[in-house]
Amino acid sequence: MYSLIIKGGTPLHGAVEISGAKNAALPILAATLLTREKCVIRRVPNLSDVAFMVKILNSLGARTRQRGDTITVEAERVKGLGDYELVRKMRGSVCILGPLLARLREARVSLPGGCVIGSRPIDLHLKGMRALGATIRIEGGYVHARTRRLVGAEMFLGGRAGPTVLGTANVMMAAALAEGVTIIESAACEPEVVDLANFLNAMGAHVQGAGSPTITVTGVKELHGADHEVIPDRIEAATFAIAAVATRGHVTLRGARPDHLSAVLDKLQEAGARIDRSGDGLSVRRGRQLLPLDVTTQPYAGFPTDVQAQMMVLMTQAPGISIITERIFESRFMHVSELARLGAEILIEGPSAVVKGRVRLSGAPVMASDLRASAALVVAGLVARGETRVKRIYHLDRGYERLDEKLRKLGAKVQRARD
Ligand code: EPZ
Repeated sequence: MYSLIIKGGTPLHGAVEISGAKNAALPILAATLLTREKCVIRRVPNLSDVAFMVKILNSLGARTRQRGDTITVEAERVKGLGDYELVRKMRGSVCILGPLLARLREARVSLPGGCVIGSRPIDLHLKGMRALGATIRIEGGYVHARTRRLVGAEMFLGGRAGPTVLGTANVMMAAALAEGVTIIESAACEPEVVDLANFLNAMGAHVQGAGSPTITVTGVKELHGADHEVIPDRIEAATFAIAAVATRGHVTLRGARPDHLSAVLDKLQEAGARIDRSGDGLSVRRGRQLLPLDVTTQPYAGFPTDVQAQMMVLMTQAPGISIITERIFESRFMHVSELARLGAEILIEGPSAVVKGRVRLSGAPVMASDLRASAALVVAGLVARGETRVKRIYHLDRGYERLDEKLRKLGAKVQRARD
């Protein structure tokens, strides 16, 4: 196992290339199962989660080829039963359910368990599949979905915490090959959903309204191959932006989409950051003084839950008290106890974290618990005096492409070391 050893205190300076979005690439790769023809997916980030999805596609009979950041998938023949141990290991793989059901009229995926950020149910995915005419059985830890034919339907996919991103993706993919019209109300509006809809449309699907709470899918008989470039990763961009401000640096995010980052940029500006939008980049730096924030995570276009942990680190540096409220996942504060090892003073009050500001962080060994918590620990390590060892960085490799290398290019003192 590997750790990241960070010697903190160096401001980040320079330009960083933003990779393709993991959370767009995963459902798009799953969508290639909807056609027998060849699909070319570009700007796919080189991440362990993506490698996992490719393994799943291979186990289902698809042929894949990877050259640089382009993945070609040809799912000429697909068998229903893949390596379900693989599916069990990555929650994102639940989005093969929709494409398999549409293509084979039968699918079996492992029921994803809870994880450190919360219980992660898939009842809304299943509600959507049932509305399209599937019979669902849960047995032996698996979801068996079966249907003679999928028929378009009207459905409401809002849940306790709002819409579901992968649930919307799953239903959209199944509905693309259903008979008739499907209307998804309270659909997720995330840019990753829009990217998937664009890919499906490039394959010959009729998806309208993606990016709004009402998505209409008019089913077609068949989809064909397509060539698609994945959107840049807004969460990676946000993480670098926060790291720039936290270390008093100045970083240009090359290729980032400011229109996907409105809530994060708005909060950074409120906290005193200076943001310049120019050319193909977005440059972010610390202004004169940091200010505390009151942030609540929300579905898109609100502040993303995937940036909550990183923003919390920045708030340890602002004077006064900041409040960060998590409304999407019930236990996404695992980073708090690790940040305490670095000297952070954060109190959890129900769904809110009360963050005491202007704390001097000092390096310590810390343990990563999930992807974004790990990213937050890295940002904290960059700010802290002395050496921080972030253990279990396989979490980071799931979602950040070459993070250590990109940080080094910006001047950070970061090394990967075997434990
Ligand atoms: C996606 O997960 C992302 N994962 C997550 O990113 C992200 O945190 C999340 O969306 C929210 O933005 C991928 O895209 C691979 P949801 P997803 O269904 O789709 C509840 C990261 O770090 N819910 O939108 O699984 C759920 O419990 C990861 O990159 C139900 O109640 O999230 C949560 O409270 C972590 N029933 C809320 O909805 C359901 O059937 C939103 O979850 C499904 C979800």
